Amino acid sequence: APEPATLVIFGVTGDLAKRKLLPAVFGLWQDGLLGSAFNIVGVGRQEMTDDQFKDFAIEALKSSKETDAIQPGSLEKFRDLLYYEFGDFGGDEVYDLVGKELDRAEEAHGGRKNALFYLSTPPSLFEPISAGLGRLGLADESQGWRRIVIEKPFGRDLASARELNAAIHRVWDESQVYRIDHYLGKETVQNLMAIRFGNAIFEPLWNRGYVDHVQITAAEDLGLEGRAGYYEEAGVVRDMLQNHLMQLFTLTAMEAPAAFDADAIRDEKVKVLRAVKPIPPERVPEVAVLGQYGPGTLYGESVPGYREEPGVKPGSTTPTYVAVKLEVDNWRWQGVPFFLRTGKRLPKKVTEIAVVFKRPPLGMFPGGLERNVLAFRIQPDEGVSLKFSSKSPGQEMVLREVVMDFRYDAFGAELESPYSRLLLDAMLGDATLFPREDEVDRAWQLVSGLLQVADAPATGKNAPNYPNYPAGTWGPDAADALIGPDRRWRRL
Ligand code: BG6
Repeated sequence: APEPATLVIFGVTGDLAKRKLLPAVFGLWQDGLLGSAFNIVGVGRQEMTDDQFKDFAIEALKSSKETDAIQPGSLEKFRDLLYYEFGDFGGDEVYDLVGKELDRAEEAHGGRKNALFYLSTPPSLFEPISAGLGRLGLADESQGWRRIVIEKPFGRDLASARELNAAIHRVWDESQVYRIDHYLGKETVQNLMAIRFGNAIFEPLWNRGYVDHVQITAAEDLGLEGRAGYYEEAGVVRDMLQNHLMQLFTLTAMEAPAAFDADAIRDEKVKVLRAVKPIPPERVPEVAVLGQYGPGTLYGESVPGYREEPGVKPGSTTPTYVAVKLEVDNWRWQGVPFFLRTGKRLPKKVTEIAVVFKRPPLGMFPGGLERNVLAFRIQPDEGVSLKFSSKSPGQEMVLREVVMDFRYDAFGAELESPYSRLLLDAMLGDATLFPREDEVDRAWQLVSGLLQVADAPATGKNAPNYPNYPAGTWGPDAADALIGPDRRWRRL
């Protein structure tokens, strides 16, 4: 278990804290993973007493779908661990109060004054909070470890991400900084590394000699979910591509690290990101497709288009879909394209990485030759499947594609929320599953050209012609042309 510590959550009354963080912390605590000397200080701008906050948190746990089964009596005990402070994040007072909470925790259960500061706030507050903690000496590790967890989005482009990194580093050493990408906390994403590097049969095939191309899909059926304010500013490139999809890409494409530790793994991830051929704005039309959904039908019901969603500007040109071809200029992957796609209001929610192998060199049997596919299903129906051709029973030599399937539910365990895994890692000081500064920087560089195109003015000759896919379909037709003509997106 981690050492005695205090978890300080800034922005604790926000959506993320309510829906994901508090349930994750509660689950870890109830399973005894946080040790007995642990407490939580919620911090917000809203005025509230400790008691009101305790009620709020208990209510959040009861109403979140992510809360584990509650054992008798455990809510009451959990309630005792909760405290609340409020104030203006630009001033000093609130940090002074947080400091006093750490003193109190130390008096209550001894040990050092360890603290994890979790910034679950709008991004505009990351810098002021980090600076405030710094001013009041709370980043100083002489009385215990101090770590800071920063939610996404980490910057809105390369320049702002660099500014944010610089501002954070004025206060914190990189070893104290944990940038969250919740995809890295998903069981099946970690399993990608386990399967690649824990088996001998896959790695020999994992290169340009055998792989034709790789497809990475993160399809979402959801639309905006009332997040227009955020999404209008972000768009799909910032919301999904720069972080979640790039992470899936690096784990698929990187070289084997020398050890399973934070720096060895992150070094390899950065190396492969550096090998990706840059995409300046003028290359965008050739290697990417952007889209925005119009009205359509999903699961048999009519749904509005993006521009009709509450809070979206009429005529908005924020993209909700992107497909991009990445080319990796290194020995392993020369000539093997990686196709990444993600979008909102697609026909279903599914995230998958598919390694598509080359066709056999000689066609001896009637019918065409299919490509074998090794697919990692990240969610839902988590698992790994291998598609290959087999003779169908009968007199004739006719081949048919069959699938060998491993399903995660074979383990018989519920999959943990990615937030519990990441929170616990941060409490334990393990940064393996957190993107490092250089990784984030490089991922922003790679999407800069795309962002320039996506952010172009809504009028004029470069204005995109949106909407270009109806809700409930697999995205713009141009995405088929991007991957084709000899290849096609997997039907998921
Ligand atoms: C978030 C994005 O980071 O990831 C959301 O902001 C998106 O727009 C979500 O819906 C997807 O995460 P998951 O875990 O549901 O695949």
